[in-house]
Amino acid sequence: MSLATDLATRLRSRLDAGEWAAGERLPPVRELAVAEHVSVAVAGQAYALLGREGRIVARVGRGSYVARRRSGDDALVDLGPNRRPPAVSATLDLQERLAGARRSGSINLSAGVPEVDAEVAAAVATELEAVVREDGASLLGYGPPRGDPGLRRVVAATWARRGLTVDEDALLVTTSGQQAIDLAVRALVEPGDVVLCETPTYAGAIDSLMASRARIVPVPTDGEGLRVDRVEEALGQERVRLLFVNPTGNNATGVVLSDERRRALADLSARAGLVILEDDTGAELIHDGPVPAPVAAFEPEAPVLLVKSFAKTVVPGLRLGVIHAPAAFDRRILAAKLVADRYTSPPLARALARYLERPEAASHLERQRRAYGARRDAFLRSLERRLGGRATWVEPRAGFNLWLRLPERVSEEEIFSRALERGVIVSPGHVYVPPGVATNHLRLSFSTASAAEADRGVARLAAALGDATRGSRRRSFEADVAVV
Ligand SMILES: Cc1ncc(COP(=O)(O)O)c(C=O)c1O
Repeated sequence: MSLATDLATRLRSRLDAGEWAAGERLPPVRELAVAEHVSVAVAGQAYALLGREGRIVARVGRGSYVARRRSGDDALVDLGPNRRPPAVSATLDLQERLAGARRSGSINLSAGVPEVDAEVAAAVATELEAVVREDGASLLGYGPPRGDPGLRRVVAATWARRGLTVDEDALLVTTSGQQAIDLAVRALVEPGDVVLCETPTYAGAIDSLMASRARIVPVPTDGEGLRVDRVEEALGQERVRLLFVNPTGNNATGVVLSDERRRALADLSARAGLVILEDDTGAELIHDGPVPAPVAAFEPEAPVLLVKSFAKTVVPGLRLGVIHAPAAFDRRILAAKLVADRYTSPPLARALARYLERPEAASHLERQRRAYGARRDAFLRSLERRLGGRATWVEPRAGFNLWLRLPERVSEEEIFSRALERGVIVSPGHVYVPPGVATNHLRLSFSTASAAEADRGVARLAAALGDATRGSRRRSFEADVAVV
C-alpha cells in the first residue's frame, strides 16, 4: 500500500468514527503532514483520494471539508414500484408540460443546459467562418465516414491524458452525444433484451432504451455512484445485454463514481463479459479534484463503449459527439450510423476540432468549471438555509444538477405543480428513472440562474413545499412574484 493510500485509510476510519462533523474543515495539508509524519505531497494525495470517494470536499483556496453525507446519500432512489404509464419519451413529456406552464417571471431550475459562454461562442463562430472560407470546397463534401480526423485526434489525446488509450482511427464522430448513445443502443439491443440502467440517470439514455424496447432493469446508486455490488447481483439473475452508466457528474444527481467502484466495475465487466455503455459527457466539469479516468481506462480488456458530447463543455448547438467501441461492435455501430444519418457534418466537426486546439479552450473550460463550482456552493447554501431539515439532497461533485428528495408526505407531482404556481420551474424525478420506478424527487439545475435568482427560486420552492404540507388552496403565481 502506498503511503498516501495508507494515510487515506487512517483518515477514513477517523471520519467513520465521527472525529470531524459533516461540513467541518479538516486540518490543512501541511498540518496533516506534520501530524502524520508524511510529506506534504503524500498528505495532499490522501486528501485527493478521499475527495474522489466523495468523503471530503476540497474548496479551492479554502481547504478540505468533510462532505455532507445526508440521508439522500444512502440510496438516491428507493426503487419502489410505481404505476405511472411508460412514456415514449419522458424528455418530450416534460418539454410539453413546461411549454404549457411557462410564465414570464418564472425562475428556471429545471433546464440542465449549459450556459453558452460569450467568448466560447465567439471563438467557435470565428472557426466556423474560417474553416468554410479556407477549406470549403473539400469540407462541404461528405467527408471521411468516421468524421473529422482532427476532432478524433483531439478526443483521443484528451482521453489519453486521463489514462485511456484509444486508437483515433477507431473513433466515430456523431451528430450529438444523444446520437452516440442511440447508435450504441440500436447496434446492441434487441427488443426484450435486459439492459441494466443506473438509477437515476440521463433521461435521453432512458428514452433511447425505451425506443429499443429493452427490458430496463434499474440498478441503485448512492453518494458514491452506481452500486457495483448490485450490478454483480443482477448478473447472477438475468442474461444482461448492456449496462448504461453516466459516472462523472451523473445527469440528475451530480454524483461521481468513486475510483474504487470504477475499478470494481471494469473488473466485473472484463470477468463477466458485461458490456458497458459509458457516458463520459461533462466529466471535465468536476468541481473538486482531477477529472477521473473513465471506467474504460481501468481495464483495457473490458468491453466498454465510450460516448461523449461536447454540449456541456463547449456549446450544445454544434450537435457533436463521439463514440469509441471495442472492435467486436465497431461494424454494427458504423452500420447504425449509416442508417441514422450517414455522416456527421464535416465543417462543424472541423471547427470544433480547431476550437479545441486553441490554447484558450482549456482556460475557457477552467473558467466555466469554476463558475459552476461557485454556483453550486451558493446553491447549497440556499438549500441549507431555506430547505434544511425539510428535504435532503446530495452535494453534486460535478456538473450543475442536484437531486433533491422530498418529504414522504408530499408527492413530487404536487410540488412540481405548486412550484410552477409559485413561479419556479423544476424537473420531476420520474423523468430520470426507468418506467415503473417510484420517485419522490426533483432534479434542480443551477446552470443558468445567477446565485441571487437561484436563491429566489429555492425560496419559492420552499414556499411551494409549505403550501403542500399545509394543504393550502392553490395559489396564483401572480400573487406571489415577490417571494424571495
Ligand atoms: C449525460 C449526458 N449525456 C449525453 C447528453 C447528450 O448531449 P447532446 O446534447 O450532445 O445530445 C447529455 C445532454 O444533456 C447529457 O447530460
